[in-house]
Amino acid sequence: MSEKREHFSSRLGFILAAAGSAVGIGNLVGFPVSATKNGGGAFLLVYALFVIFICLPVMMAEMAMGRKAQKDPLGSYKLLAGNDPKWNFAGFLAVLTPFMIAVFYMVITVWIFGYLSQTAFGNLDALAQPDNFGTFINSYTVFGYMAVVAIIVNLILVGGVKEGIEKAAKFMMPALFVLLTALVVYVLTLDNAMAGVKYYIVPDFSKMNASVLNGALAQAFFSLSLGMGILMTYASYISKKDDIVGSAKMVAVTDSLVAFIAGLMVLPAIFSFNPNTDPSTLSDSSVSMIFVYLPKILLALQADIGYVGASIVAFVFFLLVFFAAITSLVSIVEVPTATLSDRKGISRKKALAILTLSTGVLTVLCTMSFGMVDSLTKFVSYGGADKSLFDIVYDVFYDTILPLNGLMVCLFVMYRWKKANLSAELSQGCDGYVGSFTEKYVNFSLSTFIPAILLLIFVNTVATKFF
Ligand code: PHE
Repeated sequence: MSEKREHFSSRLGFILAAAGSAVGIGNLVGFPVSATKNGGGAFLLVYALFVIFICLPVMMAEMAMGRKAQKDPLGSYKLLAGNDPKWNFAGFLAVLTPFMIAVFYMVITVWIFGYLSQTAFGNLDALAQPDNFGTFINSYTVFGYMAVVAIIVNLILVGGVKEGIEKAAKFMMPALFVLLTALVVYVLTLDNAMAGVKYYIVPDFSKMNASVLNGALAQAFFSLSLGMGILMTYASYISKKDDIVGSAKMVAVTDSLVAFIAGLMVLPAIFSFNPNTDPSTLSDSSVSMIFVYLPKILLALQADIGYVGASIVAFVFFLLVFFAAITSLVSIVEVPTATLSDRKGISRKKALAILTLSTGVLTVLCTMSFGMVDSLTKFVSYGGADKSLFDIVYDVFYDTILPLNGLMVCLFVMYRWKKANLSAELSQGCDGYVGSFTEKYVNFSLSTFIPAILLLIFVNTVATKFF
């Protein structure tokens, strides 16, 4: 403990970095599309309620653990549990999860970068061909793009907290806002834009059912970067004077606002392309929307603004998604980086080298599991279908382990670390927290229905996915 832990230079730096983590690929396309399919304004409302009443308390708990312990997630669990080995497993999962999700996220970020580069070279017409995506992800050029993305992530992370993570977020987050706003303003001028806005905003409560609710909660949880050890790690880089409660609210608002505004970009574009679009036919998967459907729409803009104009809009769109993806990727690789350097006492450089190599091997294998190598594409079979290596990482870590990690945070904070300690930590930097409604709500919800809901989701996912 003799060496001073590096800290963010200001509260704003922390908020931007955490918001950078939260705002990701899912916010920009996945969120608007699933909102539109699942009840428009009704979905937006339910999502907002989930963010405020379920996700925010978990977020505050994760941040409180990290700031109190001033350690990586594994170290935080160990320290706050007084070295009780029962909790080592939770700490271990809080580090393994980001490691595996980093692999899954890297695969997609590499594709984004590939498409970004192609639009920069004016190849939008090729990107919009229906079979382009399948060919692209099975070509060896992806490995070239992968190397560049890995270098970018390393260059940011090797700079450390202030000079690396914070600087990148301070540049990329404002840039992301500017790009998003520019696209929204442009797209809203297109013919039929308002038809899209209507589907997005007008509530249809008849679409609500258990699976939509489950999906909305899972999306909010993932979108806020919960259950991945990220917020614990980032909060270990802030000082005792900083207000966690206020910062968590800012991060949640920023993340949800970007997701909401993205809908004003994506839906008008879809409906201007085809005013008769039936929202229920839109794909649920961000991947097929971003790489197959949207390039077609972007190319169609040439009728309006010419090929060069359409290519510029496409470039701006992919740059936006790329910035969102990189700040998330950086945050998730930071967790095992911090853990290795905290636990083993090695330099960040060394830790990054080890991680680049290990995640790199897995990323290459996952990338090959889309058809390049048969045995990886049909790796195992469960739930009645053949699953690729990529599917497994997704099913196990994204779908199953995330709610489990959230559950363990609730149980740990409430029943091991104890309410009084959580309150004491959250009240530092936040005058008036003790005795407030927020305090009562946080303590009540985290000890009762939030863990119950997360347990239900976990059990339900295991039962439906794997059996
Ligand atoms: N909030 C991110 C997103 O919506 C989730 C994430 C964070 C994923 C960090 C990976 C790494 O995309």
